[in-house]
Amino acid sequence: MAYNLSSMTVTVRSFAKINLGLRIGAARNDGFHDLLTVYQTIALHDVLRVSVGRGAGIEIRCGDLRVPRDESNTCFRIVTKAMKALGANGRVVIDIEKRLPLQGGLGGASSNAVSALLALERALKKSLPPGERLRIAEEVGSDLPLFLIGGTVLGLGRGEKVYPLEDLPAIPCVVITPEVGVSTPKAFTDWDRWWATLSGAGSPQTGTANTHKPKLTLSQLSDRMIELGRAYSAWLSKLYSGAPFRRGRAENPLLEFVRAGIKNDFEEVVFPEYPELCEGKRALEHAGAKYASLSGSGSTLYGLFATREAAVKAAARLRKRGWNAQATTTLTRSRYWRQIFDC
Ligand code: C5P
Repeated sequence: MAYNLSSMTVTVRSFAKINLGLRIGAARNDGFHDLLTVYQTIALHDVLRVSVGRGAGIEIRCGDLRVPRDESNTCFRIVTKAMKALGANGRVVIDIEKRLPLQGGLGGASSNAVSALLALERALKKSLPPGERLRIAEEVGSDLPLFLIGGTVLGLGRGEKVYPLEDLPAIPCVVITPEVGVSTPKAFTDWDRWWATLSGAGSPQTGTANTHKPKLTLSQLSDRMIELGRAYSAWLSKLYSGAPFRRGRAENPLLEFVRAGIKNDFEEVVFPEYPELCEGKRALEHAGAKYASLSGSGSTLYGLFATREAAVKAAARLRKRGWNAQATTTLTRSRYWRQIFDC
């Protein structure tokens, strides 16, 4: 099939996400865990340049040598699948300008892959149907589909089942990116071990390892998911039952939401291993955050602030104390989509 292979370079932003609460359920037979979370895109981003020229193959370029350039790179994997699905030929070059931390809990690698897909489609002047995009994205990783929605997104299943929530006004935030990287698979394994110890029922897996008391453990796990689901529902029903949201309202609805008793389960296993991350959360709270949490499995911590001024001041104060902190903002769905291609 002939495409315009004029090597046009498409430049895109690749935004980060944070998790507004995260509950981990039982380990499944496929090796994943059930999850319940709300993802929220934020303005911090990487920049990707994607071009399609004559030839074949995929080349990944990145100034950060820790980023893999082979088929283990999420961009490599999604572009391989997309080229096949689009029936396209050509040599794809993906240049990643890395600004987001690696293994940071901000979904950097997942976001890079989705942005690479969007840029590829634009370079080829051809699009996949939305359902096909989602299918390919979830094959590459649990955290990819959220970036095909953007804004505030409910995540279920292993995190790949995504549903757009109300596009709420942006809220200022401060993000702390510690030097340390946390392995997500290891954090899940640590969670299993921690939960097993807590419940005294052996491993909480659905497999054969804990045949004597699996029911108790699994129902406890699902109770916790139900509890968070209820907190989400209570917030949503409050949001929708009253007058529609108005800009003049005293408090940002996202702050009401995080105060509904949400929590990130990964803190239970990541904080004991990296006590400096717990200190980072306390430092954010001390600096005036209305809510502070670990994002995903970390190591990134974020705090939500009532005003932009408070966030900027807090970030400066935290930097003075040696934290790698920056003030940013959450990104609404409309701004997310507007700014991806606005480079
Ligand atoms: O989907 P993704 O490639 O990001 O997952 C990486 C690893 O994290 C999985 O292989 C699995 O070990 C773990 N994981 C999990 N449960 C999830 C998501 C990821 O156990 N819901």
